[in-house]
Amino acid sequence: MADRNSHGTMTKDNHAALWHGRFSEGPDAAAVEFETSIRVDERMALDDIQGSKAHAAMLCRQKIISEKENSEIQKGLASIEEDLKSGSLAVDYSAEDIHSFIEATLTDRIGESGRKLHTGRSRNDQIALDERLYLRRVIPELQRQLASLIKTLASIASEHRFSLLTGYTHMQRAQPGTLAQHLCSWAWMLVRDYKRLTDSLGRIGLSPLGSGALAGSDLPLDREYVAELLGFDGVTENSLDSVADRDYCIEFVSDFSLIQMHLSRMCEEIVYWSSSEFGFVELSEKWSTGSSIMPQKKNPDFAELIRGRTGRVYGDLINLLTMMKALPMSYDRDMQEDKAPLFDALDCVQGNIIVFEAMISSARWNTQRMAASCEGGFANATDVADYLVCRGMAFRTAHAVAARCVRLAIDTGRSAIEELTLSELKAISPLFEEDLFSKITPLACMGARKTTGGPCPEQTEKQIEALLSFCNGKC
Ligand code: ARG
Repeated sequence: MADRNSHGTMTKDNHAALWHGRFSEGPDAAAVEFETSIRVDERMALDDIQGSKAHAAMLCRQKIISEKENSEIQKGLASIEEDLKSGSLAVDYSAEDIHSFIEATLTDRIGESGRKLHTGRSRNDQIALDERLYLRRVIPELQRQLASLIKTLASIASEHRFSLLTGYTHMQRAQPGTLAQHLCSWAWMLVRDYKRLTDSLGRIGLSPLGSGALAGSDLPLDREYVAELLGFDGVTENSLDSVADRDYCIEFVSDFSLIQMHLSRMCEEIVYWSSSEFGFVELSEKWSTGSSIMPQKKNPDFAELIRGRTGRVYGDLINLLTMMKALPMSYDRDMQEDKAPLFDALDCVQGNIIVFEAMISSARWNTQRMAASCEGGFANATDVADYLVCRGMAFRTAHAVAARCVRLAIDTGRSAIEELTLSELKAISPLFEEDLFSKITPLACMGARKTTGGPCPEQTEKQIEALLSFCNGKC
């Protein structure tokens, strides 16, 4: 049997306190252990309190509870909030979930009025509200961290507008570019991530409270007033959908998955760029690890761990999608399983962004090695073709002519078109002149790529300015 305190209420020590009335036996200890969610949902304690304060204020305004009861509830909730923040109140893990813990603690503190808080409310609409409040509270912090990383990348880029670096396609040397252009390409991926989070936040701007268990309420609740108090744009449209919807969890974890995918691509490049074969970047000792057997090793473990944790975040997404699949309307207890993957993915991405920023800001760039990657390897073959195009040749013909130059160089043991003599080149096309050689140096090729978004320093400067102005006021 459930324990009762002096007010005849369930004590917070009793797991089933909120719903045991129709049962003649308490739950099995293993059942309690199995269904509890408090260790996962405790992080929404402050959001739960915020939602309850608004709910009680509305109940009072609608004269469903008295001014005195409301004032006791408000004070009680404020004291719980304060004590949780200061650490003087510990979460009781014998409670079923964060909702029951806070309600039971409130009732312990203020007595009978606490038992009125849940009027017209169900944990089904309460949890949907708490999750939205929580996400509205924490996502802006994640966005701040993203903006900070974008700013860091743009700042490093601004020092490397002239640092040559081959661009690759298919992991084969393609055309010359710069480190700045490359770092900006990373930053733009993160800008899209930032904006995606803003879009997703826009879609959780409606309050589900007042949807009750599934069918609203016969009490004169004012849902719009609660929404207004909590800073929502309005209320959700359908009570069944309101308690059954977890699209926002899936949407945010899908946003996180894209961030992870981007981080993993950036990390992949850091990993091979830091190898002796590439040597483009040297990670600081603070953000490297050694080997227990090979004394010489300096490993990019942090980039690898970030890359590796992508699996975790994708797993969280698949977890959520699968958990929600085929659930009948409306609330089903399966949905309690949404929080672990949501929080796990959030924590993972957040930690990764912070570590990536620290790792990249303390890295040293080897501009000579990067510039050397532009020498040889025929990364200027397109520029040779374009040289001929500027002299009237059709691009298709010019492509074939440049290819013949590449072929001749390879066949005669030379590693670059510019190692051919002018007469060898003229034998392939009479349009070649001495000025070709100055036009196909890596620096010239890079500098001539002036199209919007291209790698020439003036264009990159514009990108850097745009990125920095995007970050302005965001971090
Ligand atoms: N802990 C539940 C969840 O996270 C909310 C409570 C609803 N429980 C219920 N039996 N209707 O989804």
